[in-house]
Amino acid sequence: MNSAHDNTPSADGRFGQVPPGVDVEDPNSHRPEPIEFTDGETAIGEQTMDELRQIAARYPQSRSALLPMLHLVQSVEGRVTPAGIEACAQVLDISTADVSSVATFYTMYKRRPNGEYNVGVCTTALCAIMGGDDVYDRLSKHLGVGHDETTADGRITLERIECNAGCDYAPLMMVNWEFMDNQTPDSAVELVDKLTAGEEVTSTRGARICSWRQSERVLAGFPDGRADEGPTSGATSQLGVRIAAEQGWAAPTVEEAAEAKAEADRIAAEKEAAEKAEAEKSEGEAK
Ligand code: FES
Repeated sequence: MNSAHDNTPSADGRFGQVPPGVDVEDPNSHRPEPIEFTDGETAIGEQTMDELRQIAARYPQSRSALLPMLHLVQSVEGRVTPAGIEACAQVLDISTADVSSVATFYTMYKRRPNGEYNVGVCTTALCAIMGGDDVYDRLSKHLGVGHDETTADGRITLERIECNAGCDYAPLMMVNWEFMDNQTPDSAVELVDKLTAGEEVTSTRGARICSWRQSERVLAGFPDGRADEGPTSGATSQLGVRIAAEQGWAAPTVEEAAEAKAEADRIAAEKEAAEKAEAEKSEGEAK
């Protein structure tokens, strides 16, 4: 295995190795691509400007609205465009540099046109151990794209993603931020083939998969009325609650927790005093 300081990029960019495209001798090689500012086309019209203003009006400090506003831009433009950045800056009365600094920081904001389906494979430690790296490698080979790249037909953008808090269903995938639990390389390939073929796909937790642009609109705070499609947590996540109920366990009350803490503090203080006395006694005997 390459070390993190090995100058040889690894084939698969796994944790602990130098990721593909990173040259440790070149301090600029890890920097993400800048937003392409030569593209002057935009689909942002008056309706989108109105909706951007609606989002801004939801917050006491309007600039707090920037994250959902950028999601709305992506739902309209298919990525964060220069026009989208200018629209956000105009509505919030901040500089385009302020907006760009946010849009280029978070990986959910795309610099290049995104696919119709954003397929994320969790390769954080637990999912990686449970097979996430194998799922990613197989998909990458099957689709012919690498991390944050889109298939030539514009259907799928593949990503390595960080933990999405579904570790009890590892290895986990997300399609347009809907959960795909307990994946295998085979099930992942079957899934992307269905997406590519335009078949209806349902999250393993029930929700129908919409397009990436539709999901971006929901993230902007414009619900599509389908929030209750399928459970938000599954049986595995609720196992602890079920066992506690069966055993009659309950969390302590605030008063009980305070009493327990006071008792723990008292025991710790007694221990510290005893250790101090013992140390002083040993010191006296040594003189
Ligand atoms: S490590 Fe993959 S969801 Fe947590």
